[in-house]
Amino acid sequence: MATLPPLVFAGEARDLTAQLAAVADGKAFLLQAGDCAESFESFSADDIRDKLRVILQMAVVLTYSSGVPTVKVGRIAGQFAKPRSAPTEQVDGTELPSFRGHLVNDAAFTAAARAAQPERLVQAYHQSASTLNLLRAFTKGGFADLARVHAWNQEFVASSREGRRYERVADEIDRAMRFMKACGVDPATQPALHDVDFYTSHEALILGYEEALTRQDSLTGDWYDCSAHLLWIGERTRQIDGAHVEFLRGVGNPIGCKVGPDATTDEILALCERLNPDRIPGRLTLVTRMGAGLVREALPPLLAAVRNAGHPVVWACDPMHGNTFTASGGQKTRRFDDILAEIAGFFAAHAAEGTWPGGVHVELTGDEVTECLGGAEEILDTDLGARYETVCDPRLNARQSVDLAFQVAELLRG
Ligand code: PEP
Ligand code: CO
Repeated sequence: MATLPPLVFAGEARDLTAQLAAVADGKAFLLQAGDCAESFESFSADDIRDKLRVILQMAVVLTYSSGVPTVKVGRIAGQFAKPRSAPTEQVDGTELPSFRGHLVNDAAFTAAARAAQPERLVQAYHQSASTLNLLRAFTKGGFADLARVHAWNQEFVASSREGRRYERVADEIDRAMRFMKACGVDPATQPALHDVDFYTSHEALILGYEEALTRQDSLTGDWYDCSAHLLWIGERTRQIDGAHVEFLRGVGNPIGCKVGPDATTDEILALCERLNPDRIPGRLTLVTRMGAGLVREALPPLLAAVRNAGHPVVWACDPMHGNTFTASGGQKTRRFDDILAEIAGFFAAHAAEGTWPGGVHVELTGDEVTECLGGAEEILDTDLGARYETVCDPRLNARQSVDLAFQVAELLRG
């Protein structure tokens, strides 16, 4: 793998750091979104397009409603490895290794499927390359053109209440473009209205994969992990003397680190110091995932400590991983209201500390799945079985995602 071409270019990673610096400075908002785990099986052009368009929809809603630019980062083109709470899983008395994402093994409950297969690293690389290729084509080739803002609204979204609300925003954007044209600014000549900067990210969990794609930048001589623009450290692997921190501190990419409810201020300050000793704005994003019930108490001391130490971090809210539970039918799920409540708690904590609630980090899909409970067109416990397709954690469907964007936009407007 070390001989294969890099997936991203170091200059792009530096551009993302610059965009995230604006977020750290309170002048932009980060939207990081995509699958919990990408799959080797549900891999198609439609799948990639639908995920991109719901992210574009959310970004338009956020930007239009709040007036703040949105930095768009997908959990995509490399998000194939999963950390697990337990190394093995038991079903009817049989114990097998846990599923660790398609980068490592397969989800089927057989000994053969659960064995680690190194060839999967190469398959993940190739799937990431073709995913990224299509994303680049879509975002620079006309699909993401603001003139197509109506076309991003899929039928099953458009027919819902949040879909109609989106249509009204899209109408207003059309009107604004006609207004600009009437004033003599031809939208056709403004590249910023036609192209979108869309970045990729994943959890840098399997260090063999990351190391093989880490290359020295010919322009600066610095090392970059060229498997994605942004890499993050998971909640289970953020030990200050652990391999994941050691690896990512050595690459020039913007990096993230998950922060759960048990994190102490000492731990987080040590991580900031280790991962961003030069205090480069945009270099480090702290993604808090506390749970709706804990965020209001657990977050403020961390915000104050990091602010007082002068670390220019981006604070993002992952309202998914602290709010997961098992439904009566056995599926892992999350309530839309808990997700919203954690985001509201995140905004309240930042308001109390005078820090900037920099972004959200969510698991979603462009499809009409039934994996998370609630939302305006309510998904009930008994609906979960209808289209439960995730290979790992439950994702918001496109309708719930657009709904969430409107609610976050309202919080951003304050
Ligand atoms: C994830 O982002 O899918 C994940 C496993 O998160 P965390 O490390 O925060 O548990
Ligand atoms: Co997840």
